[in-house]
Order: sequence, then structure tokens, then C-alpha cells
Amino acid sequence: MTIQNITLPQPDDWHLHLRDDSALNTTVPDSARYFKRAIIMPNLQPPVTTTEQALAYRQRILQARPVGSYFQPLMTLYLTDNTSEDEIQRAYDSQHIYAVKLYPAGATTNSAAGVTDLTHCTEALARMSQLGMPLLVHGEVTDPKIDIFDREKVFIDQILQPLIARLPDLKIVFEHATTRDAVDFVRESSHPIAATITPHHLLLNRNDLLVGGIHPHHYCLPVLKRNTHQQALIEAATSGDPKFFLGTDSAPHAQHSKESGCGCAGIYSSHAAIELYAEVFDAAGALDKLTGFASHFGADFYGLPRNTRQLTLSKQDWQVPDRIDFSGQPLIPMRAGEIISWQVANLSD
Ligand code: DOR
Ligand code: ZN
Repeated sequence: MTIQNITLPQPDDWHLHLRDDSALNTTVPDSARYFKRAIIMPNLQPPVTTTEQALAYRQRILQARPVGSYFQPLMTLYLTDNTSEDEIQRAYDSQHIYAVKLYPAGATTNSAAGVTDLTHCTEALARMSQLGMPLLVHGEVTDPKIDIFDREKVFIDQILQPLIARLPDLKIVFEHATTRDAVDFVRESSHPIAATITPHHLLLNRNDLLVGGIHPHHYCLPVLKRNTHQQALIEAATSGDPKFFLGTDSAPHAQHSKESGCGCAGIYSSHAAIELYAEVFDAAGALDKLTGFASHFGADFYGLPRNTRQLTLSKQDWQVPDRIDFSGQPLIPMRAGEIISWQVANLSD
């Protein structure tokens, strides 16, 4: 018999881009609808590099919450070559900043101020290790000689392994894992390392980007990989291994900036995220594993309590809108105009 309903504790999103100012009027309500908490990425312009900036950004997010919403933004700092250990300590002491994000300089959207060489960050990383504050890594090298499809694997070999050897206690989240190499590395490591997996890397592969023409709304970073890597991600996410948990990497860009001669990287999924994950787990015959992935393992890794409200999903078709308003401009969401086969039936009080 096919399963028609599933109830799980309210999920959290451990990797989210909300942007700023009027964009928050779209992104915050979409995430707050079903997620209780989210790790908020700091790649604004200018980036969120100080505790003061992160706390001010947190206030703007809180103000954009719908009336009565319990949504909690968990803030992060953007690591630079100049991040001091004192700044790390201030961030930790603020009690609102939960992690620090490593963008290798030039790796992705708004990463120009990122780290050029991790040797510049020795003191900051040592303090994070002492405090138990996780480092969230965008795991791609930026060397122009390295093929874009190989950048994640080369990052593991050249950057991650030496980092782990230097700081064996540093908690690390390998963000938006996209390859079999990454999930194998995380699974087999004895280090305190986990990985987030996005709905788009579970549902799409590079054919969805390139076959029949270029599909700019499927362009993201790390770029979609071949289907064997997609299969490895599905296996990891649905395995019940607590090292893999939900992080959407929902990253809004207006339609015109994606449908461009040099289109931006990012896929918006916050309008339908938990429903999209439910589709993946259903197709894999692993709906019983969704609770751990979506509602337990991330909280456990961050040392935070699990949520208590209950969310019920039902197997029922609904149609995604063709476009969403994003600061007065159209945005094309993931699955625009198409059917999603799961929907949220209830969120308990
Ligand atoms: O596709 C992506 N979009 N990947 C990232 O790493 C950044 C994100 C963004 O901020 O647009
Ligand atoms: Zn991201």
C-alpha cells in the first residue's frame, strides 16, 4: 500500500539565503511557513563580517516575519582573511550567531570578499574549534585551471583534508554536497563533519541544465553533476545516517538576472522545500527516513533542541505558480508552473 500521509516534527533549514531589505518580504514568509529555524547565509553586499552587522540583519529578518510566526533566524558570519579571534568570540557571546561561513574567494555569488588562503584564518579557526562553533564550507576550489565539475573533489583533497588534520576538533558542515566523493568523504570521516543536501541536487542532474537548450533556472553552484552523483546524494539523504541533513540553499535571483548573457547562480525553493524533499524520499521508498533528515539530525549536530510542533504532509497534487513577486520583480521558482505531488496538510500549534 502506498503511504498517503506522513507526520514529522517541524523541520529546520540548515542553509538558506534570505537576501535583505524588501526581498525579505518574499523570502521570510516563504521559509517561515513551515520551517521553525534556518541558518542564514551571510553573503550580502557588503557581506556580514561582524557581530554588529549580523545582529542588525537579524532584526530586519525578525521584522519581516508574518504576525504570529515563531520562525527563528540563526545567524552566521562571513569569514574573511581578516576575521579576528576576538570577532569570533563576540559572535559566540552574542548567542545569536551559530556558525561561520567559508566562501573561497570567487567561488560563488558575493564571494569576492571571501578567503584567499586559509592560513590567514588560523587564529579565527582555532577559536571556533575551542568554542565548538561550526565552520560551514562552500566546498569548491576556485583555481581557473580546475574543471568546474571537479572543483568539489579537488577542494576535499587540497583544502578540507589538510584543514581537518590541523584542527581535528573543528566542527564542519560540508554545505550543499553534490558529488559521490563528498558524501563518501563525510560518511567515512571520523571527524565531527556533516553535510547538507539541497532539494535541487536531489531532484536534478546536469541533463536538466543542458539538454534541449540551456535552462538558466537550473543553474546553481556547485553546478549540477551527472546522474550517478545525484544517485549518491539520494542514497545518503535517505540512508538515515545522521551526518546528512536538510539545507535548501534556496537562493533567489530575479528572472532577468538568471535569463541573461551571464546568468546568476541560484535556485529558489523556499516556496515548496519540504514538499520537494517529500517527493524525493517517497520516490526512494524511504519516507520513514524523512524525519531524521528534515527534523532531527541538523538540530543534533548544532547541539540545539529538536522541534516539538508536528507537520503533516499528504500525497496530493498542487501546482506551483509560474512566477513569484520578488521586490517588485518576477522570480521563477523551482518547478514553476508544474505539479508537486506532496503538500502540507497541517502544522500543529
Ligand atoms: O547557487 C548558488 N547560489 N550557490 C551559492 O553558493 C550561492 C547562492 C547565492 O547566494 O545566490
Ligand atoms: Zn548557499
